[in-house]
Amino acid sequence: MNSTQPRKQSQIPQEDYAVIRDFLERSCGIVLGDHKHYLINSRLNRIVQEEGMASLSELARRLAKGSDVRLQDRVIDAMTTNETSWFRDGYPFEILRTLILPELADKRVRGARIWSAACSSGQEPYSISIVIEEFLRARPGALPDIQVVATDISSTVLAEAEAGRFDDMTLSRGITEEIKQRYFERDGNCWRIKASVRRRVAFKKLNLTQSFVGLGRFHCIFCRNVLIYFSHDVKRDILRRLAESLHSGGYLFLGSSEAVTGHADRFETVRQPVGHVFRKLC
Ligand SMILES: C[S@@+](CC[C@H](N)C(=O)[O-])C[C@H]1O[C@@H](n2cnc3c(N)ncnc32)[C@H](O)[C@@H]1O
Repeated sequence: MNSTQPRKQSQIPQEDYAVIRDFLERSCGIVLGDHKHYLINSRLNRIVQEEGMASLSELARRLAKGSDVRLQDRVIDAMTTNETSWFRDGYPFEILRTLILPELADKRVRGARIWSAACSSGQEPYSISIVIEEFLRARPGALPDIQVVATDISSTVLAEAEAGRFDDMTLSRGITEEIKQRYFERDGNCWRIKASVRRRVAFKKLNLTQSFVGLGRFHCIFCRNVLIYFSHDVKRDILRRLAESLHSGGYLFLGSSEAVTGHADRFETVRQPVGHVFRKLC
């Protein structure tokens, strides 16, 4: 082929679409539905080219064999939507600042634990850690050994999150000049999150459709804008296990339009002037 000609993108035949759709639902809970061929074509053709495969059909055949974990990871990585921003939606971070952290401090909890359960490239857990830093400026010594655990299924976004380096464009989505000057330092043409914010955040690869009992219990969980990709049954199962991972009276943030579907008996809704959070019933 003439190297100046763009390579023709492979279009996915229906039977191979079904293979990839079933693989995604089985491996990470993501439900594609019957009509997302364009998404597969646009996101997986790059892998086809980089892996030297002939077509999306070959990719589907190799996935069906089930033995190539590296390829499976690449496909999951490409098919996850990693959209995020700093202090996304505002209100969860305001409720953390005005309700949850003061409550933990007043109860003198040592080693409080907050989990960002689908952390994407790190904006959510670092926003949580910045809120903690700001809280500690006002109440030094409160919340000793507080930790943030941040997990995601995608190795690519986790690597970005762990690096803690962000460009101006990324910071412009939610970071004020004041917060930038206080919690980031210049690093070439990017900004690096300061050690005081970085050091309480521990990153780990984790698939929410698999067991997470090993992570232990939390005082607060952020599981936002990820359950929307799952089937009703998978969502219900994850919500049950999230409830079990919370201490009694612990807090759960979901995406702004998400609910604790099927588990209303395990949570009460706590309404605040800025928005709401779910609290695990004792
Ligand atoms: C739209 S982002 C949301 C990021 C952040 N929580 C927020 O609200 O800004 C969804 C994230 O969920 C992750 N994800 C998708 N399926 C997952 C699964 N089965 N287990 C863990 N994380 C998953 C994706 O990799 C992606 O980073």
